[in-house]
Amino acid sequence: MDQAVTSFLIKALSPHTGAEIRGIDLRQPVDEEMRTALNRAFMDHAVLVIRDQKLSAHEFLEAMQVFGKLFPQHNTRFQVPECPAIHYISNQDKLEDGKVYIPGEGYHTDHSNDAEPPKATALHAVKLPKTGGDTQFVNMYEAYNALPDQTKKKIGGLKARHVYQSKHSERKLPKLSEERKNIGSESVIHPLVRTHPKSGRKAIYINPIRIEEIIGMGNAEALPLLDELMEHATQLKFQYRHKWQSGDVVIWDNRCLMHKANGDYPIGEVRYLYRLMLKGERPA
Ligand code: SIN
Repeated sequence: MDQAVTSFLIKALSPHTGAEIRGIDLRQPVDEEMRTALNRAFMDHAVLVIRDQKLSAHEFLEAMQVFGKLFPQHNTRFQVPECPAIHYISNQDKLEDGKVYIPGEGYHTDHSNDAEPPKATALHAVKLPKTGGDTQFVNMYEAYNALPDQTKKKIGGLKARHVYQSKHSERKLPKLSEERKNIGSESVIHPLVRTHPKSGRKAIYINPIRIEEIIGMGNAEALPLLDELMEHATQLKFQYRHKWQSGDVVIWDNRCLMHKANGDYPIGEVRYLYRLMLKGERPA
């Protein structure tokens, strides 16, 4: 008979972001108390690193629903064949121009071009390079708190338009799949500072890949302001850098973090992870 998960060990990974969880097997059912404890840990630490898992794509899909409901990926090109609800991250795909595509390079928050962007993203390591390929996270609560009062006041009421691919972005995204190509011409407006619906804390909400404009502000003022916020938010003191271990499941909160992947390993070494996102709410 399956043994329900009843407790786990938790250790903070930095003063502000990330906690490691040991002693649970995500293939086993989770009772209500455990669900509450895991969600509490997720809210407190923003990144959970659940060690020593060996999940199939179907098991990963099932396990992550402890934290919420599946958010359908905008681009359906990267579906795992045996479980299309799960997508993959791989360094083996190429962009239309033949260049190697490292998904997630450059700090961003996921799918902010959606009216209700995913609250969380989760990855499960299937194959890792011997070294490198870390995922970096920056804590946008901490970044917000450390802003000068004058800047807080300035950005407090501002809103930005988010699109699939910002014309200002250096990072180019792969073409959308045919059935989702309408997403490429849609846009949404979100505040530059959002309040986390569970913690009530304020976080800077920016995304250099997706922000097309700040509403009511010309580019001559908006682009330097966004650059300044990026430079501020990506300081080392706000960062947790995740070094992947075989079997890791990592889930993070897109509402109070930015993250980025690193393509700093030999391209001949495969880096392959399962990926999914969980439904969120309209940023406010
Ligand atoms: C992502 O941005 O979702 C990918 C992160 C990674 O591959 O480390």
